[in-house]
Amino acid sequence: MTIQWFPGHMTKARRQIQDKLKLIDAVIELIDARLPLSSRNPMIDDILQGKPRLIIMNKADLADPEVTRQWLTHFKEQGHTAFPVDASTGTGVKDIPDQVKLLLKEKIDKQIAKGMNPRAMRVLIVGIPNVGKSTLINRLAGRSIAATGDRPGVTKGQQWIKVAGGEMELLDTPGILWPKFEDQNVGYRLAVTGAIKEEILNVEDIAFFAVKYLSKYYWEPMSERFDLKQRPEDFENPDEIVTVMEDIGRKRGCIMSGGRVDLEKASSAFLRELRAGKMGRFSMESPY
Ligand code: G4P
Repeated sequence: MTIQWFPGHMTKARRQIQDKLKLIDAVIELIDARLPLSSRNPMIDDILQGKPRLIIMNKADLADPEVTRQWLTHFKEQGHTAFPVDASTGTGVKDIPDQVKLLLKEKIDKQIAKGMNPRAMRVLIVGIPNVGKSTLINRLAGRSIAATGDRPGVTKGQQWIKVAGGEMELLDTPGILWPKFEDQNVGYRLAVTGAIKEEILNVEDIAFFAVKYLSKYYWEPMSERFDLKQRPEDFENPDEIVTVMEDIGRKRGCIMSGGRVDLEKASSAFLRELRAGKMGRFSMESPY
């Protein structure tokens, strides 16, 4: 799904989330484990107005586990509770209700001390498009509730979904937030992972960005996959990166008449394989 964000959309998205904050006890902020910076909304602290929050690093199955560990330490140092999940298979998802309970322990203990039966914890999931909000809602609910592809500005009657034996209630419509757009590299990182579709950025530019990054940090899995011999010596030299792209294109038979490599086709093939995890797990941002 591609969303073109304009100031009006952002204001509306923000207002929709802030209206829901009144109804809930805690927020689950979903981010992409491969891009914990670029997949976070730049104004999230301000938007959530101090609501207790769990940070969930989704798509952890695709991220470099060592880098994910560094992020977990980083978030802990910042005073946040964060943990990795894979919403597509459900790994880590069953721990979420207990983690929310820990987050709200003080509030729950107060209710118990007053002799009250603690009511269900009410939770809203927020995150940028394609981060896996609907997948997570469906996974937590154990059935298909949230349609993938919800768009900002489209409202429908909202419902509470009971999860964890009724201990927790989720709003069925997630809060959709815009990503960080300040620097162009953020856009490219989002595009490499598939969070921004290729109509917005040129596919060859996206692949160039990815090949350059992998040449630098994940040369081995990429060179193994495409049987590449020559690692660029200077990662800032575009000619060397294009040479790698051409080698990839030749390996995938992306040749035009005259024998030149079809870089557009090569780029699409490369990105498809990268996103499908064929070059192993990778992260594009690290905290240190
Ligand atoms: P959204 O509501 O936040 O917009 O995201 P959604 O759940 O629709 O998920 C976006 C894509 O990410 C889906 O792929 C979904 O299967 C995939 N996904 C979600 N969580 C995980 C995860 O933990 N691991 C992996 N590997 N994938 C995950 P899709 O249906 O194939 O759509 P598309 O991205 O090909 O369009």
